[in-house]
Amino acid sequence: MSVTENDLKTGSVRLSDDGKSCIIIDQTQLPNRIIYLDLKSAEDFYDAIKVLAVRGAPAIGICAGYAMYVLAQQKNTDDYAVFREELERDGAYLISSRPTAVNLSWAVKRMLKVVADNADLSVGQIIALLRDECIAIHSEDIEMCCRISEYGLTLVKAGDGILTHCNAGPLATSKYGTAIGPCILGKEKGIDLKVFSDETRPLLQGARLTSYELQKAGVDVTLICDNMASIVMKNGWVQACFVGCDRIAANGDFANKIGTSGVAILAKHYGIPFYTLGPTSTIDMNCPTGDDIKIELRDPDEIKNMWYKEPMALEEVKCYNPAFDVTDHELLTAIVTDRGIVYPPFKENLKKLFM
Ligand code: MRU
Repeated sequence: MSVTENDLKTGSVRLSDDGKSCIIIDQTQLPNRIIYLDLKSAEDFYDAIKVLAVRGAPAIGICAGYAMYVLAQQKNTDDYAVFREELERDGAYLISSRPTAVNLSWAVKRMLKVVADNADLSVGQIIALLRDECIAIHSEDIEMCCRISEYGLTLVKAGDGILTHCNAGPLATSKYGTAIGPCILGKEKGIDLKVFSDETRPLLQGARLTSYELQKAGVDVTLICDNMASIVMKNGWVQACFVGCDRIAANGDFANKIGTSGVAILAKHYGIPFYTLGPTSTIDMNCPTGDDIKIELRDPDEIKNMWYKEPMALEEVKCYNPAFDVTDHELLTAIVTDRGIVYPPFKENLKKLFM
């Protein structure tokens, strides 16, 4: 089976036709194999998120919404208290799969709020409301991708070079994506941008996913190793950096794929505007600064063994493998959200989005 044109436009996560499972494109297998996974149990969902079969903050949120609905239907009880307790347990388990992207807990909490707010209804009626809610999370994501892409496109002009890091396209979200949304929307509107995609060590989201999505969408994309960002900037080929985000703190510091903060530092050196693009669901007003964001540490094997025929380091060599880093808000030109473009001072201006 191959990824359809539609998958590339609407994202990598969907509810099955009978609503009993969630179907995802296994992103670990791209670009060489197109494999769909049918997720049913809490363990299926946990594992898919943990191994990055579903990844990218918004896609994880959409998947978590569907997970809660799929799992709710499996509860063998009409008793509200038992139903709620079991679903809360599932939610906590799902949230524990990855700590950094706030969209995961945001979606789980949003689904659990439906349960908490409707204690007077039958379990069957609550399940029907949960179905509406998870579908709403997905359709809102499509809307937000469109709006972010439109806003992002106002920041650049035809012919500009854009450097991006990791993957924040349709596979990581739904339609268009966030950071690479303006590039795909631009193509549709005849505004051609030239994208430089960092390969994004160690899991190669830039090589495997971003360059794949952009190439398929007909966008001019050039793949570079992470350590080549400086030379393309020095050559004058980059007019803006567009990156995604996994959690934006109330002061504008934000977590994104490891290596993002290095790109921001380089952009500052070369005087290139640096933007993060993300939905308001990625802004965590309960998280004061970047220091309060929990950074996921992953298996050293991803550095030493993965992708190679044989290990590229001694087994006993120590490895440090943080999945994300925090970019200081002072390096950020603006935050592009579905509710508009937010400029400094971020602490004051982010608050206004929620008034
Ligand atoms: O570890 P990943 O691949 O889930 O990391 C993803 C990113 O860092 C993305 O940039 C972010 O989630 C935004 S996706 C729209």
